[in-house]
Amino acid sequence: MVSDFSFILGFLNISAMSLLPPPQNVTGVSHNLGAILKWDDPLTLPRTVTYTAGYKHNSMKTFQTVCIGTKERYCDFGELPSVSGSYRFRVRTEIQREHSNWEEILFRLGKQTIIDSPKVTLISKGGATGFIEVNIQDPVLKISSLREAYGTVAYNLRFWKETDKKNVSEIKKTTEQQVKLTALEPNTRYCVQVQIHVPQCETAKEFSDVTCIMSTEKRLSAGLLAISLTVTIPLLFLICCIIYKGKKFLHPKVSLPVHYNKILNNPGSSPLLAWITVPPEEKYDQINAVDEGNTYDQMTCVPEDNLCIMDRGVSMAVNEYYNAVGKNAKCDLPYGNI
Ligand SMILES: *[C@@H]1O[C@H](CO)[C@@H](O)[C@H](O)[C@H]1NC(C)=O
Ligand SMILES: *[C@@H]1O[C@H](CO)[C@@H](O)[C@H](O)[C@H]1NC(C)=O
Repeated sequence: MVSDFSFILGFLNISAMSLLPPPQNVTGVSHNLGAILKWDDPLTLPRTVTYTAGYKHNSMKTFQTVCIGTKERYCDFGELPSVSGSYRFRVRTEIQREHSNWEEILFRLGKQTIIDSPKVTLISKGGATGFIEVNIQDPVLKISSLREAYGTVAYNLRFWKETDKKNVSEIKKTTEQQVKLTALEPNTRYCVQVQIHVPQCETAKEFSDVTCIMSTEKRLSAGLLAISLTVTIPLLFLICCIIYKGKKFLHPKVSLPVHYNKILNNPGSSPLLAWITVPPEEKYDQINAVDEGNTYDQMTCVPEDNLCIMDRGVSMAVNEYYNAVGKNAKCDLPYGNI
C-alpha cells in the first residue's frame, strides 16, 4: 500500500520534471587539472532559469553537488579529488520547484586536461666553450605537481639562431629541467622554445613562447675572471705566508744574553770559555770538601772521560747561561705562532 503510494508520487514527480528541457551542449573543460562544466540555455524560456551541477568520481558512491541554483551557464568544480580515473559531470535546469532530467557527461580529467606550456628562462654561460643553460619550470596545476600527477614528464626543445629561423635544432624527450645547449657560435643570439611531453595526457601541448639570448663571447667572461681572481689572490698570499714561516723556522731569531755575547767577543777574559776551548790537562786533583754538617761534596776531574765536575762558582754561571738561553728561546720559538 505504502509502496504503491510512493510509486505514484515518483511517477508524478518524473512527469513533472520531464516538462523542463535539460541544458544543451554540456561540455567539460579542464585547464591545468582544474575542471569547469559548461552548457547552453535549453530554450529561450520565458522565466528565469537556474541550474544545479555536480560530479562523481568512479571511486565515489554519490554525486557531489557543487553549484546549486546558479544563474550562470557554467560551474567551476574547483579542486577535484583525483587526477586518474573517470568522472561523471551532470547538470539540470530548474524553475522554482520544477527541474529537468540530469544531463550527464563522462570526463577523464588526467587525459583531457589542457596543460600550459612551461616557463623557460635562459642563462648564457662559459668562456671558450660557452653554452646556454635552459631552465624549465612546470606550470602550477590545480591538484598536484606535474610530476606527482603523471609520474614521467619529458620536454621537447627546439632552438635556432635568431638570424636563421629555418635551421631549427631539436632535443627530444629530455627529462631534465636544466638543459645545456652546447657547440654554439659565440656572440650569436639563439632562440628557444620548450614543449611538455606527457604521454598519459591526450591534449595537444603548446610550445612555450620564444625566448632568446646572446651566447657568450669567445674570451674569458667577466664572471670567470672574477672567480679566478678570488681564488688566485688568497692562494698567492697563503704561499707567501708558508714560505715566510718556513724561513723563520729554519733560521730562528734567538738573542743570546748580554754577558754571553761579551764572553764570545773577548774569549781570553773568561775562565769558562778558556776551559771550554782548551782541553783539560792530563792530570787531576782530588778535592774533598766537608761542610759543618756531616755531608760533603766531592769534586773530581777524570781525564780519560774528559769529565770534570766544576766548582760552585763556574757551575752557577753555566746554569744561569742555560736558563737565560732557555727563557729566550721559549719567548722566540719560531713555530710558537704557526
Ligand atoms: C549547441 O552548440 C551548437 C554548435 O556550437 C550551436 O549551433 C547551438 O546553437 C548550441 N545550442 C544552444 C542551445 O545554444
Ligand atoms: C644548421 O645548424 C647546425 C648547427 O646549429 C649546423 O651544423 C648546420 O650546418 C646548419 N645547417 C644549415 C643548412 O645551415
